[in-house]
Amino acid sequence: MQEVTVTDFARSFGAREDEFSSECLQAIRNYDFSYQQLNQKQRDDVILCVLKKISSDTQVIGAEERTSVWEQGWAENLDAFKSQNHSLEALIPKFIRENQPIRYDGDYIMPANPRFEFDYMTVFRIWLFQKYFADFSKIYEFGCGSGLNLVLLASLFPNKELCGLDFVQPPVDLINTIGKTHNWPMTGHRFDMINPDESFKLAEKCAVFTFGALEQLASKTENFIQYLLHQKPGICIHVEPTVELYDEDLLFDYLAIQFHRKRGYTERLLPRIQQLEAEGKARILGIKRLHFGSLFMEGYTYIIWQPV
Ligand SMILES: C[S@@+](CC[C@H](N)C(=O)[O-])C[C@H]1O[C@@H](n2cnc3c(N)ncnc32)[C@H](O)[C@@H]1O
Repeated sequence: MQEVTVTDFARSFGAREDEFSSECLQAIRNYDFSYQQLNQKQRDDVILCVLKKISSDTQVIGAEERTSVWEQGWAENLDAFKSQNHSLEALIPKFIRENQPIRYDGDYIMPANPRFEFDYMTVFRIWLFQKYFADFSKIYEFGCGSGLNLVLLASLFPNKELCGLDFVQPPVDLINTIGKTHNWPMTGHRFDMINPDESFKLAEKCAVFTFGALEQLASKTENFIQYLLHQKPGICIHVEPTVELYDEDLLFDYLAIQFHRKRGYTERLLPRIQQLEAEGKARILGIKRLHFGSLFMEGYTYIIWQPV
């Protein structure tokens, strides 16, 4: 068995170890980040499973039927939240898969802890949010889903105003219900990132983020980027699968590229923001592939920028 150490987390996030707060270090200590490396036969089996998935998968990102899939999925989380006495556990999305091999540091590994991916993301989000959001009093998450990220933010920063936006109604109702039942300054709002409502004005000097949400726009991100350029939030963070950062000459990366493209997840977000920087319209503050992800792809590359 091996274990992800504080040094490994720092390398994955592009952070310094002394940047980790007590909350972050406590999360690293409390969760089980031990894992097994695969032998050749196990690795071959995983690759075969990934190849079969790539050829058999029929999900089309951004297709019309996906709207009702999201609507129903989040409605189930909303019902569970109400029936389970407003338990935050009920907010964990169904798309988080447990007990699977995952991608870590250039290879597939088998975690001991069924929630390894989710817990790794908790450590990452604590570091990211504390490092970049401390100075902003209002934070918006676009494509907020069940509100897990906002709940973590509320626990880290109980006094910040939080706003969760999504293109279907159940997340809006969920965020409003979470805010009321847990007494957090948190509100929900309906917003379609493909057709942004320019009359929805962001607060002065606010922060904006997306987490696995721009990926769902099937590359139709330009209107939302324009919206951000007009609204000029103080910081924008996107944690999204970024196909441009894989190395297509490596089998391990090539498989993720094939999966990303088969489903039609968003592409060209990073080159577009780099182009805006070259035009003097954006300033990039950070780009990092975490070299961490689920079985099929790495959904957690961060791009941090400011409209100029
Ligand atoms: C993979 S989920 C991520 C949810 C949440 N950010 C999280 O980290 O748990 C993608 C989210 O994007 C939302 N979404 C999809 N298309 C959207 C659009 N055009 N505008 C706004 N939200 C959208 C979905 O409803 C869903 O909540």
